[in-house]
Amino acid sequence: MRRWTQCVRRGFHSATAIDWRAFPRDEVTNVPARLEREWFGRRLLQEPDHPLARAKTRMVRHLGIECFEALPPVVSLYDNFDSLLIPATHVSRSPNDTYYVNRRHVLRTHTSAHQRQLLRSGPASWLACGDVFRRDEIDASHFPVFHQIDGGRVFGEGVTAREAEEDLKGTLEGLMRKLFGASTQLRWRDDFFPFTSPSFELDVMFNGEWLEILGCGLIHEDIMQDTPSIRGRQGWAFGIGLERLAMVLYQIKDIRVFWSRDERFWKQFRGRPLEAPIAFEEFSKFPKTSRDVSFWTNSEAFHENQFFEMVREVCGDLVEAVVRLDTFRHPK
Ligand code: PHE
Repeated sequence: MRRWTQCVRRGFHSATAIDWRAFPRDEVTNVPARLEREWFGRRLLQEPDHPLARAKTRMVRHLGIECFEALPPVVSLYDNFDSLLIPATHVSRSPNDTYYVNRRHVLRTHTSAHQRQLLRSGPASWLACGDVFRRDEIDASHFPVFHQIDGGRVFGEGVTAREAEEDLKGTLEGLMRKLFGASTQLRWRDDFFPFTSPSFELDVMFNGEWLEILGCGLIHEDIMQDTPSIRGRQGWAFGIGLERLAMVLYQIKDIRVFWSRDERFWKQFRGRPLEAPIAFEEFSKFPKTSRDVSFWTNSEAFHENQFFEMVREVCGDLVEAVVRLDTFRHPK
């Protein structure tokens, strides 16, 4: 605990590579090799051009609150669940839904896993972002690794629940209007999280559809009660999924593209101003291949355009370019 506190104090903004492979494995370990090899530690939020990092940075700048960006993604069961009053029987604890590093540690399933420690040792308001992990199928809208940003604020003595709720709603409405435009329609709905009470969800109207964008609420009394320095006070917390948000902001239709190393992905974001309205254009998921074709003809009337046309007739626009490399004329 002491070490962690010092890390928080030092900021944890720099890349303190925590190698979770150092955590001993046991019979409940269920982290797939592919996750470890390909996705763990990619630090997409630390690539300034990446659409997820852009979404994060826009929020951090607008809110003007310190963001902890390198909190370690391997957390104890206490941090991920118990400290947030998530019951021992809750489905989210199932190894079918959560990656267990071992009996006592999981890959965080949400950035709220840091809330209790930030409440204890952190500032009066904070943001925490990072990669989160949930066992899931992979398709255009699901991926077992995604990113969240959580925020929290603790008020001084004398602030009522009502005032705290107004502050929370005002803060998040302002944030959404900043991201989606000043006249964006917003809708509050009641929700449930074990660690906030009351709990709300904020929906944003986008292209004629209501999108669930975030969950939030007043930090549960029992959590505040448990921490001597803030006992009896009010506080709020929220959590936002960055993929969802970035998919809407940049018109990205497939969640898998965030993991792309393809230049055709990166070049659409690289060097663009933070607020630039970028509409992502899809590209083929298949890697580029080149084919050499050689043939001969004895027709003097042959023109390369005949060949180009034939390729297009068969392959359509799947072929990027057809280029004549060489011509050879036999002397006889
Ligand atoms: N951690 C919640 C989730 O992942 C979101 C949340 C954060 C809700 C903070 C309330 C307060 O869905």
